[in-house]
Amino acid sequence: MFDSFEKDYEVCNCRKVTLEEIEIAIKEKEAKTLRDIQDITSAGTDCRHCIFTEGDFGKMKKKIYCKDILNKVLNG
Ligand code: FES
Repeated sequence: MFDSFEKDYEVCNCRKVTLEEIEIAIKEKEAKTLRDIQDITSAGTDCRHCIFTEGDFGKMKKKIYCKDILNKVLNG
């Protein structure tokens, strides 16, 4: 899963939330929705560009989004 990214890859730059922290929120803290991820990790609660591609209005597009991680972890 996301093999090309390090565990400490920073998915949410505003809140400095890593790929691993988001995976743990889903696997161990039972985050089922993007809202849950926001509540548990605070990822996506500032500029919100890291939540999903449609919401990325940044000049530099993100390489990975919270929504992708949620879907991958929940759906395998
Ligand atoms: S990069 Fe995640 S809220 Fe801004």
